[in-house]
Amino acid sequence: MAATAKIGATVIVIFGAAGDLTWRKLMPAIYNLYLDDWIPEHFAVLGVAHTEITDAGFKKHVHEGIDEFSRTGKAKKADWEVFEKYISYKKGDFSDPATYAAIKKQIDKLEKDWGESVNRVYYMAVPPNFFEDIATKIGESGLCSNKTLSRIVVEKPFGHDIESAKHLNNLLHGLFDESQIYRIDHYLGKETVQNILAFRFANAMFEPIWNRNYIDHVQITVSEQLGIENRGNYYETAGALRDMIQNHLLQLLCLIAMEPPVSFDADEVRNRKVDVLNALRKMTMEQVHNYAVRGQYGDGWIEGKKVKGYRDEPDVSKTSNKETFAAVKFYIDNWRWQDVPFYVRSGKRMNESISVITIQFRPVPHQSFPLETTENWQPNRLVLNIQPHMGIRLRFQAKRPGLKMLLNPVDMLFNYNDSYTTGTPEAYETLLLDIFQGDATLFMRADQVEAAWNILMPIINAWDANTSPNFPNYAAGTHGPEDAQALIAKDGHNWIVMPLEKDKKNNNETTE
Ligand code: BG6
Repeated sequence: MAATAKIGATVIVIFGAAGDLTWRKLMPAIYNLYLDDWIPEHFAVLGVAHTEITDAGFKKHVHEGIDEFSRTGKAKKADWEVFEKYISYKKGDFSDPATYAAIKKQIDKLEKDWGESVNRVYYMAVPPNFFEDIATKIGESGLCSNKTLSRIVVEKPFGHDIESAKHLNNLLHGLFDESQIYRIDHYLGKETVQNILAFRFANAMFEPIWNRNYIDHVQITVSEQLGIENRGNYYETAGALRDMIQNHLLQLLCLIAMEPPVSFDADEVRNRKVDVLNALRKMTMEQVHNYAVRGQYGDGWIEGKKVKGYRDEPDVSKTSNKETFAAVKFYIDNWRWQDVPFYVRSGKRMNESISVITIQFRPVPHQSFPLETTENWQPNRLVLNIQPHMGIRLRFQAKRPGLKMLLNPVDMLFNYNDSYTTGTPEAYETLLLDIFQGDATLFMRADQVEAAWNILMPIINAWDANTSPNFPNYAAGTHGPEDAQALIAKDGHNWIVMPLEKDKKNNNETTE
């Protein structure tokens, strides 16, 4: 979570090395770790995939990916020339034991040449249907037999529902110790997401008011202008609930709602988070309509461009019932949060791309000011902006300058870009470094994943069982379906989005 010591000799084997994740995220992240001097002298990246490509061809492909996607821009010649020496490629069939025997031989040789023990990281950057086979072969071939030095990384989606997640957990536990398994949720590697922990637990002033006595409700919005891109096949089996809420949004909710950990030991932090998931109020399939709303985008306009509706996207059924938007109201049944609603929502092809958490405080218990002074009066609000701009905004009342007593809301703003000039690492840089260092704090433990599936199963089952009669029910480029407004409006609230950067002078609030 927070890098400390330098890492020892390390080999990372990437299964699915010819794929998009490796190209756009993993290799640029490893390259930036190298630039920031985290990579040890003895280090190797071994790409494995079905694709027929030479070492040189693979390196060229990686170079292009770095030039296009690295946060530090195009690779400088001198840096690349050193970095490329770490990289090699092996064509291999994931189901063939010979592939794993060859990997083992290569790592054993490196260990001998380097004269020190080697950390072994096996990264499954592949579609989920390969997870079982690759994990089994890694386990059976003895690649992970040193339990302290070897780790396996599993990308999301971890399972398709509670049964398949349990099945995968059982399979992995038959082959590896839980401490060797790193289940990725890349949201947890984002700077601003990690900063939620710092904000809550490195400051004394927020904790006393962080509860049902002072907080009226919490909103978490992750909206994207992007559609499903070329992922129709995957998305038709996933939908917004599985793709975003089960993992990213529930993890954000946990960070807001968890009790203070005694230490930042990986299991202590994860215990506190799983407590939240276990305290989420269970709903029955019959109650789902009171708590959850779904949507699917039709065609519309995004930033002046006409875009297709979901059902016209490639690899999507013309009668698809899959949701591209989901909003859920959760309650957490414990002393701290009893009766405080947590509204979460996420959607594709929305009006803007923004991830934001809003903590809405209760009104003052007694209004001492005369009514005419408080026209614009609002209870306190804290907004944690996760992306695209990172920052924190605290809204409070102030007296407007002038001879009359007039109150209106003003904002105290912390903007990362103004306060820090150092570059912000990408989520995958943080997470890869943690894996190299053996720190599992920001990774999902088996019980967390299962608890998250458990809580969503009634919604998944209800939505799978009942076709939505009104899909598509929101136009691309809008705020999502009207039902989502109704979900929150019936409690007397509205969705609030306060972007950080656009217009600092005004209290640029969008309510929907
Ligand atoms: C992924 C989802 O986990 O997160 C995508 O599968 C989504 O559908 C993405 O677009 C969002 O991540 P980020 O970092 O771009 O907000």
